[in-house]
Amino acid sequence: MASRFPAAWLDELRSRSDIIQVVSGYVALKKSGRNYWGLCPFHGEKTASFSVDPEQQLYYCFGCKAGGNVFSFIMDMERLNFGEAVELLADRAHMPMPEMVNDEDYERRRTRRERLLDANRRAARYYHELLFRPEGAASLAYLRKRGLSDGVIRKFGLGAAPNGWTALTDYMTGQGFTLEELSAVGLTVVKPPEGGSGKTRAFDMFRNRAIFPIIDMYKNVLAFGGRSLDGQEPKYLNTSDTPVFNKRKGVYAANLLRQQRHLDRVILVEGYMDVVSLSQFGVEGVCATLGTALTNEQARLLRRFAPQVYLGYDGDSAGQNAILRGLNIFDEEGIPARVLVFPDGLDPDEFIRRDGVEGFRQLPSISPTAYRLRRAKEKHDLSDREGRLAYAREGLGVLDRLDPLERDVYLKDLEIDTGFSRETLMEMLSLLDREKKDAPAAEAPPPRRRPAPPPKAASPADGDVSAQETLLSCLATGQIPKDMLSEKDFDDDELKSLYSSLISGMSPAAALDLAPDDEARSRYARILLYPVAEDTDQIMIMASQCLKRIHRASLQREYDEKQSRINAMPAGDPAVPALLQEMMDIRRRLDAIR
Ligand code: GTP
Ligand code: MN
Repeated sequence: MASRFPAAWLDELRSRSDIIQVVSGYVALKKSGRNYWGLCPFHGEKTASFSVDPEQQLYYCFGCKAGGNVFSFIMDMERLNFGEAVELLADRAHMPMPEMVNDEDYERRRTRRERLLDANRRAARYYHELLFRPEGAASLAYLRKRGLSDGVIRKFGLGAAPNGWTALTDYMTGQGFTLEELSAVGLTVVKPPEGGSGKTRAFDMFRNRAIFPIIDMYKNVLAFGGRSLDGQEPKYLNTSDTPVFNKRKGVYAANLLRQQRHLDRVILVEGYMDVVSLSQFGVEGVCATLGTALTNEQARLLRRFAPQVYLGYDGDSAGQNAILRGLNIFDEEGIPARVLVFPDGLDPDEFIRRDGVEGFRQLPSISPTAYRLRRAKEKHDLSDREGRLAYAREGLGVLDRLDPLERDVYLKDLEIDTGFSRETLMEMLSLLDREKKDAPAAEAPPPRRRPAPPPKAASPADGDVSAQETLLSCLATGQIPKDMLSEKDFDDDELKSLYSSLISGMSPAAALDLAPDDEARSRYARILLYPVAEDTDQIMIMASQCLKRIHRASLQREYDEKQSRINAMPAGDPAVPALLQEMMDIRRRLDAIR
């Protein structure tokens, strides 16, 4: 665990595993410009948006945003972990495996994460084993009462947190984990001593609950959900965010999605129980968000598993409103989505138990437009003239974002439901178009596809993040002087760390291996592959423009900050003149950059 491959040996392996050759083993590539292009093997597509850069030895898909180097490519294609992918490539390159080494720098970055993931993995195994022992009897009885078979219990690695205070904590400390580590992953609650005489108290986070381990596509156990057995609140206790878990990024059952190749759709539901239950009935490709509303990151993750997503949220009103928000997110990401509506307010688990898998398969899926129209229609009383008018207005707002062909299909429905003639409806639509042109900012429909994923970990005070990314793209070409930039030019941790990797002389492909997670890897790949320019002069010009933008943004931030300090001061405050003077200085420096 504490050792790793020697850096020099890995560099050698990387240089002997040419990415064009490796990728060509799976994907037909054609050269165009500096890069090679092909159909992305990670999502279904008909036009080539998968690019491989022979110089940087990286790939990036402009469709599904999968990106990485030769190791991550093999990890994804062959479903291997890093060590296994290295072994496979070494074998193909006829390189003998090296002696593993200890490397302190690498250790510091990797070990903490690996220790925490290891803690989770062992805890999951412990909970799972307990389920079939006397201490787990209550949980097992609960899961069986919910209709789960032993097969599906094993498939999802479900477990039992026993009804004591310290069973898991005792077991894990016995395995060599510290209370600090157990508390960092949210398995143990650690309370500092109370008063002078008290001791540190430590107890299990999950007690008397059925356990649903949350496992990512690389089979890492990231977190847990615990279902109460006896009506205890909260119904589901979920691990909060930890150094290895971000609930806004992953989905439940990603590990299984990944094993189900060539899915034609992913079904996204709300609850862990829904996923497990549908799976037991033989429905493939089901996953759930982790107790929060759908995020753009999760939508992009789903795109990697199938070409379209079915939203199968609960039939209650909360679920139905979540569908409308979810559809907007899929629109923003340009991901085709459809809706499964469960009757009688049921959730997927309740529905499939009532109507069986046949009932489930016969459930019609509805297009986003039909769904939005249906929801708009439910709001209005169509027996009333005002109601019909209001519905026509709202319905046209839905159609407004469609292309003319799609519009045509649904205009007919609207014509029938509202009694307005097609001509009138068309006229109203063009009126809407004109209003939109006059006031472009107000109520604009979401764009069909956003140009680039939003910068993550960006604080409101952030400077120009896209300029910072482009600056790194320039740096990665190796054609700008290193002392031109400094760490201060970057304001989020991911960019800072990519900067220090590149500045330390690491190759882009090696820098990529240090990405903390999947999303970051994709972001790094996008930055490192960004086609800046061919010649040094142009790259220099681009880099200096980025620097200017970054410096301007940071000065502007200083300026605004002083401004708001002045605004908060009482009139005549003696500190105001000095602040004004500083603001004028900043303004002068800003003008000088322009
Ligand atoms: P069952 O009652 O076990 O069938 O649950 P369900 O699958 O029908 O789940 P429900 O629709 O109640 O909740 C959906 C998801 O929301 C769950 O899987 C959890 O992730 C989350 N959730 C539900 N209840 C709670 C809660 O009390 N606290 C938190 N943090 N999350 C919850
Ligand atoms: Mn349920």
